[in-house]
Amino acid sequence: MPKIVLTDVTKRWGNFYAVDHLNLVIDDQSFVTLLGPSGCGKTTTLRMIAGLETPTSGRIEIGDQVVFDSEKGINIPANKRHVGFLFQNYALWPNMTVYQNISFGLKNSKKYTKEEIDEIVQRVSHIVKIEMFMDRYPSELSGGQQQRVAIARTLAPQPQVIFMDEPLSNLDAKLRLEMRAELQRLHLDTGCTFVYVTHDQMEAMTLATRICLIDNGVLQQYDAPLDVYNRPNNLFVADFVGSPSINFVDAHGVQAEDGSMDFSVFSGLKAKFKFANKTDIKKFREEESSLMNAKAEEAEEASKDKKHVEKGNKDVKFNYHIARVDEDKDASPEATLDDYVLGIRPEAIKVVSKGGIEAEVYSAMPTGMETTLRLRIGNFILTGVVFGGITYKIGQTVNIKFEGDGISLFSRESGRIIDTGALEV
Ligand SMILES: Nc1ncnc2c1ncn2[C@@H]1O[C@H](COP(=O)(O)OP(=O)(O)OP(=O)(O)O)[C@@H](O)[C@H]1O
Ligand SMILES: [Mg+2]
Repeated sequence: MPKIVLTDVTKRWGNFYAVDHLNLVIDDQSFVTLLGPSGCGKTTTLRMIAGLETPTSGRIEIGDQVVFDSEKGINIPANKRHVGFLFQNYALWPNMTVYQNISFGLKNSKKYTKEEIDEIVQRVSHIVKIEMFMDRYPSELSGGQQQRVAIARTLAPQPQVIFMDEPLSNLDAKLRLEMRAELQRLHLDTGCTFVYVTHDQMEAMTLATRICLIDNGVLQQYDAPLDVYNRPNNLFVADFVGSPSINFVDAHGVQAEDGSMDFSVFSGLKAKFKFANKTDIKKFREEESSLMNAKAEEAEEASKDKKHVEKGNKDVKFNYHIARVDEDKDASPEATLDDYVLGIRPEAIKVVSKGGIEAEVYSAMPTGMETTLRLRIGNFILTGVVFGGITYKIGQTVNIKFEGDGISLFSRESGRIIDTGALEV
């Protein structure tokens, strides 16, 4: 069974880098989602692994076979890579029955006897629960059933790796949820490696064993979903995953003797941030500047190469958003080295009977299971989620605290995470 290894894979058109030096190891039998905003390079990455797009440079291995190597001039065609596809526009043949649709590729390959084809079709249609529709035409099926036929057709040649590019985007919300659960089962039942493209962070979170989050062709984080959620590498990742979004809060301060940070937040309020792990800010800064130097050196080295093409679509610093009542005010003045950004997940905000800080209920949206609260502190707005059916009056004052040691602290300069910790106000 195959593991997929991408080494330094780049795809550019002119000076536009769709995928920028991507290194990735997709473990055997894993379910990896490629996630990121529109145009970040997800489909291009998938197509390169599948053999439908030729990388500009780099190396790709599937199992023990090198399927692409720009230096050695290796490029195995797609039909010899033993992979299956399922794309967003999974056109079924309208003039063929479900059985014919599923068996079409098998018949063409001439590898199987009629009995073997029968058996395979039966098995895969059982997995996706469409065995009762074998004689129907696609037009006689619902959207979800058609989608399942398309999945069965992908499974029929028994690929060891299955690539899917937003296969559920045509379905309505309820069906999508149902199909998600089925895909998860399918992954278990087939033991295949799944590589799945989506721009829906919820889909990526719920399905994947590992998420590969990309921005502007550059890998941002490659981790298990909950690690991406709880310990985002940088401000971009923190902002991209989670709904409602994470709250960003500017913090200004220095590290105290005992290792904690003495911060001023929300325009003058005193707060203490206690790192979950022993962290030395000075050391972090040193590491960060040596990292930046190394990067600059690398860029200079690369620019000396005659074949080097400067990246036209420059990587820009992520502009994090701080929610305020007076949105048009310039919230973040020029940053100094004593400036940081806190990332507070909505569920870390707890309404308490006393202590903490006072906040005004700006809006309250109960769904029954939980209530999304927007809380005003001075001119700042925090979004919190409170579980259970509690009613809040708009304008009422509540006391809030920040719970747990899962609050992220980021360097304002680079946007990188320093560590997580607890915030006491
Ligand atoms: N043939 C091409 N020539 C030039 N640029 C291209 C070509 N194909 C894709 N691109 C560009 O490469 C970038 C990555 O495209 P890709 O299709 O991989 O995005 P994506 O992450 O799948 O986005 P979406 O979520 O919108 O499907 C895009 O900015 C796109 O415009
Ligand atoms: Mg795409």
